Amino acid sequence: MELPAGLLIALQSANKVLVLTGAGMSAESGVPTFRDAQQGLWSKYKPEDLATPEAFRKNPQFVWDWYEQRRSMISKVLPHAGHTALAELARHFKAFSVVTQNVDGLHQLAGSMDVTELHGNIMRSVCSRTGKWIDNELIIGSTVRPPVSPHHPQGLARPDVVWFGEALPEQNFNHATGLAGDCDVCLSIGTSNLVQPAASLPFLALNSGAVVAEINPIPTRLGQLAHFSIRSTAVDALTAIVGQFRVG
Ligand code: APR
Repeated sequence: MELPAGLLIALQSANKVLVLTGAGMSAESGVPTFRDAQQGLWSKYKPEDLATPEAFRKNPQFVWDWYEQRRSMISKVLPHAGHTALAELARHFKAFSVVTQNVDGLHQLAGSMDVTELHGNIMRSVCSRTGKWIDNELIIGSTVRPPVSPHHPQGLARPDVVWFGEALPEQNFNHATGLAGDCDVCLSIGTSNLVQPAASLPFLALNSGAVVAEINPIPTRLGQLAHFSIRSTAVDALTAIVGQFRVG
């Protein structure tokens, strides 16, 4: 595919690149979005009714089982060529950071080194009382659902993801804000830019003087303001970028 020459020029001269990713980044790996995942037994429930602290308090086993099903799905998927392209591209910059809203760990699996997770990671669990990480070895194969937390007598294991109504991990969001305010190029990939506060990051980059490009088959509100709006999938756009980027 043909890329805007201006984007390649901006990348050639950039020192610091920030990549922001959302659910659309994982789509071509086959990770179902919340809504796509609502099949069979789960089809009558809205994700907003399952991914909340209230739902977990009311029926922890039900919420745990729903996440177990998503974990099992996600454990079978692999990074795609777009994930690999990002890991490869990173080698050519002084700083190349990925900030993701995805909880599937696919960037890390593809070899990206500098990844900040804004919404947690579905493969990890934390104590519902203390928020401390729980080693998966301690709960694997537990017959109690959810497993009891080793960190608190009344605590239960819960997925280490940010639920609706919960705050983002402060340190990670502050770090992401710093990166957005101080990058030369920002690529926003596969996000609707609707869920705050993550949605504010590409606009912060834009206001801070970065060259911003959106990669999304469907335009979002960022597309109208970004310097470049690439209407294609993550795989097509990122393999084109890595293929056409020239070193030196
Ligand atoms: N390549 C690039 N973009 C794509 C692709 C693809 N192959 N397929 C879909 N998209 C785009 C869609 O057009 C849409 O704009 O990805 C975007 C996905 O938007 P959302 O589903 O709203 O995902 P996201 O922006 O990551 O939502 C943020 O909301 O549900 C919560 O916590 C969850 O992290 C998630 C957050």
